[in-house]
Amino acid sequence: MEASVFFTWLSICLLLITTTTSDDDLHHRRNLLGNGLGATPPMGWNSWNGFGCMIDENIIRETADALVSSGLAKLGYEYVTIDDCWGEVDRDEQGALVPNKAAFPSGMNALADYVHSKGLKLGIYADAGYFTCSKKTPGSLGNEELDAETFASWGIDYLKYDNCNNDGSKPTIRYPVMTRALMNSGRPIFFAICEWGDMHPATWGYTVGNSWRTSCDIADNWERMVSRADMNEYYADYARPGGWNDPDMLEIGNGGMNKDEYIVHMSLWAISKAPLIIGCDVRNMSKDTLEILTNEEVIAVDKDNLGVQAKKVRMDGDWEVWAGPLSHYRIAVLLLNRGGWTVNITAYWDDIGITSSTSVVARDLWEHKTLTSKFRGSFTAAVDPHTCKFYIFTPADKKSLQMS
Ligand code: GLA
Repeated sequence: MEASVFFTWLSICLLLITTTTSDDDLHHRRNLLGNGLGATPPMGWNSWNGFGCMIDENIIRETADALVSSGLAKLGYEYVTIDDCWGEVDRDEQGALVPNKAAFPSGMNALADYVHSKGLKLGIYADAGYFTCSKKTPGSLGNEELDAETFASWGIDYLKYDNCNNDGSKPTIRYPVMTRALMNSGRPIFFAICEWGDMHPATWGYTVGNSWRTSCDIADNWERMVSRADMNEYYADYARPGGWNDPDMLEIGNGGMNKDEYIVHMSLWAISKAPLIIGCDVRNMSKDTLEILTNEEVIAVDKDNLGVQAKKVRMDGDWEVWAGPLSHYRIAVLLLNRGGWTVNITAYWDDIGITSSTSVVARDLWEHKTLTSKFRGSFTAAVDPHTCKFYIFTPADKKSLQMS
């Protein structure tokens, strides 16, 4: 065969191969969601845990004010999200969603302008069914394009998309429709998938949303809080910049747990690279609540740009060691006592992923103290009931460091 004939034949074959790549292959590789958001887990506030359906525009405005005046905003808490119950029961004559006239008389554009003027972002809640969970607002199923357009026209920056009252079809069918609609709206809108873990959204959520709930709702008590973290941990390998596992919003400051337990809550969320969405009334926070929510060293773990979610690396009865890598070869280590007695908990280097000869400097993130001795091979601390110790280990001698 002449060379020119051979090359023509070869290029026809290559063309055929590339054009017959199945839709499935393409779908697999294509990310529906190219919004560039969520490089680190989102931070902000949401109305649901603290207010339920008792919301109005004054609360949202005052919350935006309080986020700024308390210093929370400058630490990264930027999304102010209106959860369920914000709408009229009926759509308007054009089929658009309508804000509840009594609770939001100024409308969403005005509210978005106000929130934006504070340097913050506005989030809203919708549902991949016929009605939201409260049944006070219509769902978006079948109206995704129009609703996404409406949200974009209001200046919305974050959409929490719930799963109540749907038609029984799979979330893997219903959620991507909203993803496409948000992309078509032309406005970058953080897409928070909230379908309570049905069909393991961690395994498909990355191409569809920026975060996905891994369980049903948190409540303001110890058992419910730690069990959300447990279910979330199971999917640790799926979290990464652009798409995060979501164990649900924070209950810190709502009164159902004591200070130590809320410190555990904040620590578990941070080491899990979870969205840090405050759920209390930030207009009336106690000193303890503010202290927990504003711990910059803990927030920095959540926002570390390596973006790797920690795992439980050892557990025995009521005690657990959680660990995960951070940037610059550092390691976040959490010693957690879930039981009723003080215990000594040991983190072994073998478990947390450093060689036994590495010596580390330990920084206590709640005491804000660097421990005076260096540690090699293992680290032990006494941990009281329902408390944790949270550290960053930094290799003292970078030359001897080898990550296993
Ligand atoms: C579901 C969600 C909650 C909250 C409520 C509102 O339960 O999981 O986070 O949005 O609906 O009705």
